[in-house]
Amino acid sequence: MATRAEYSGGYSSLIIDQFKQRTLATQGAFVLPHLRPGLTVLDCGCGPGSITLDIADLVHPGQVFALDYSTLQIKQARLLQRQRATANVTFITGSAYALPYPDGQFDVVFAHALLYHLRNPVQAVAEFRRVLKPDGIVAFRDACHTGDMMIPDSPELAATWDTISKVFAHHGGNINFGAQHMPLLRDHGFRDITISCSYDMFASATEKDGIRHYWQTFLATDHRDLILEQQWLTKAELARQCAALDAWCAHPAGFFARARCEAIARR
Ligand SMILES: C[S@@+](CC[C@H](N)C(=O)[O-])C[C@H]1O[C@@H](n2cnc3c(N)ncnc32)[C@H](O)[C@@H]1O
Repeated sequence: MATRAEYSGGYSSLIIDQFKQRTLATQGAFVLPHLRPGLTVLDCGCGPGSITLDIADLVHPGQVFALDYSTLQIKQARLLQRQRATANVTFITGSAYALPYPDGQFDVVFAHALLYHLRNPVQAVAEFRRVLKPDGIVAFRDACHTGDMMIPDSPELAATWDTISKVFAHHGGNINFGAQHMPLLRDHGFRDITISCSYDMFASATEKDGIRHYWQTFLATDHRDLILEQQWLTKAELARQCAALDAWCAHPAGFFARARCEAIARR
């Protein structure tokens, strides 16, 4: 199976700015009971690093190692690290498929919004297990579109999500991957598996506008050529799907609750 890094999420400043809003308190509440001062943590697929730096504050004087395939994301993360003057984090570029760490180094391996982008999550989880100490904790959080609420719903929006799903799948990802945490962890021999779900909320006018821009950039800029070349849509259909996001955003009672599946397990 292919193990090269492919990622449909994109790295425009608009997308990176969205990710920088993420916090451990909001996106990582499920792992909080397992973090304490002195632990050694890996944040795999760390993106621009806002969650990573929150982890570092919590486990200080423990050390956090954070890795992302994208040099751009690591540059952003190091910038944020300087702004926040956080000393106990080391950001590096690298692949989840071949982690540059020795066996048994980490108390906790955390991966937020990474696995559902991967063509080969099995290989990444095998790597997570390898670098965990005996009894170490793995913690994932991934999208599961079947649980999303984009209100008010419409046939046009459903078609928009169908296109998003195709783009993800083309890059090896799966927008419903979150539901597969339990069997994946079982197959790797993890124990004490705890599954939970939560939502990322986009309800204020600013939040709705931000996520509308995010998906419109995804469709009409980052993956426009792919969508047209694959003949998934005509230009007019693509414009209608972007307009459906505008209509959703403009609706005064609208909101988007993005479902995330979470898993904690022990090696
Ligand atoms: C959706 S972003 C999540 C970033 C961060 N965890 C957060 O939640 O803000 C997924 C990240 O995974 C990275 N990524 C994708 N494939 C990867 C791989 N094979 N190895 C390491 N990082 C990868 C991407 O570059 C991207 O920054």
